[in-house]
Amino acid sequence: MKNPFVFGKVVQGDLFLNREMEISAITETLLSGQNIICYSPRRYGKTSLMMKVSEKLKEQGNVVFLIDFFRVTSLQDLYNIYASSIAETDRSPLKVFLSIIQDILPTINPKVVIKPPDSPTVEISVPLPVLIKSHSLNELFNSLEQYCKKKKKKGIVIFDEFQELSLINDGALIEKEMRSAFQHHKLVSYAFLGSKQNLLKGIFRDKNRPFYNFGRHFELDVIESVHWIDFINKKMGKECSAKMADDILMITENHPYFTQMFCHYLWEYTKTRSKPLDASAIQNVLLEILERDELLMSDLWERITIAERHLLKAIAAEEPENIYEKSFLLRHSLGTASSVQKALKKLLDLDYIRKYKTGRYVFVNPFFKRWIHSNTIRVS
Ligand SMILES: Nc1ncnc2c1ncn2[C@@H]1O[C@H](COP(=O)(O)OP(=O)(O)O)[C@@H](O)[C@H]1O
Ligand SMILES: [Mg+2]
Repeated sequence: MKNPFVFGKVVQGDLFLNREMEISAITETLLSGQNIICYSPRRYGKTSLMMKVSEKLKEQGNVVFLIDFFRVTSLQDLYNIYASSIAETDRSPLKVFLSIIQDILPTINPKVVIKPPDSPTVEISVPLPVLIKSHSLNELFNSLEQYCKKKKKKGIVIFDEFQELSLINDGALIEKEMRSAFQHHKLVSYAFLGSKQNLLKGIFRDKNRPFYNFGRHFELDVIESVHWIDFINKKMGKECSAKMADDILMITENHPYFTQMFCHYLWEYTKTRSKPLDASAIQNVLLEILERDELLMSDLWERITIAERHLLKAIAAEEPENIYEKSFLLRHSLGTASSVQKALKKLLDLDYIRKYKTGRYVFVNPFFKRWIHSNTIRVS
């Protein structure tokens, strides 16, 4: 029997649970012509959620595609992926399709390669200086709006891991050109997804950056227990009580990826080793995960300075509301507020911790917090 819990890739169908409120709010916002910015730490389910939204929007006849900035390494790359994505949404006869492409990308006049038959793929070979100088970027970023006008449709572009744009050569130029084109669009809306809170804030909340205030912000949270319990019970089988599902969630803190991962290993533990599903199985799987990830955790630990480790330990102990409160600083001998400020920024930049909407500083990875706890206990 196949393991019913999946982690590490986009989940769809009955592997995807809930998020109904988010799906309808995001879909409605995009259809109303507004842009969205969707933030959460890695592995909270942004891509999976947007694939759901995208499915829904496509069913309604809209043109939708996703550009994953993790895969884009250069301006030419972006050009190629963007243009082919528009082309691949078109199912017109070849002649009509070619004339549309030439119409919306006149400067570039891309070469069209057909592979496989019936699904045209655009191949572009334009030297970088031409791309930068000849207004071709403006043409590219206006192309979907032109296309939608011709087809009398609405369009939605999803930019996944958008913060990675700043790592590409010419990233600043692309950001500027995107903004100056997108702001005039009436038929196309844009969704920007990102995993690094600080980088994303820099792009969308800084008055001096082109994308300042460019859309409605959505912060994706973990999935609530009521939904998880039902999902875990159903997939784990009748041996699994609501109490047991709750115990699992205490460990994973409802984190989408880690909950699926934990359940995956627990399912495997009970099925392949014929063990009963009980409290000791849960404890053993937890120990196995911590042991297996020992190298990964110590690597995270080694990457930060002593001052940062000290602060991280204090946060692991309390997940405080107010980090600068005198009693918290004193309790953990953290020194002055200014030295804490620097360490805190680094921990936030690295996404080890995040500021929860209640103001509390919490760990992104619940196993890393446990690892710090268990090492602290062992040492002292
Ligand atoms: N709605 C969901 N239902 C069940 N599992 C989910 C859901 N969203 C995310 N997950 C789990 O989290 C993992 C990461 O999801 P993904 O969409 O890749 O996150 P992100 O794009 O935020 O990094 C998935 O492989 C799956 O295990
Ligand atoms: Mg993703």
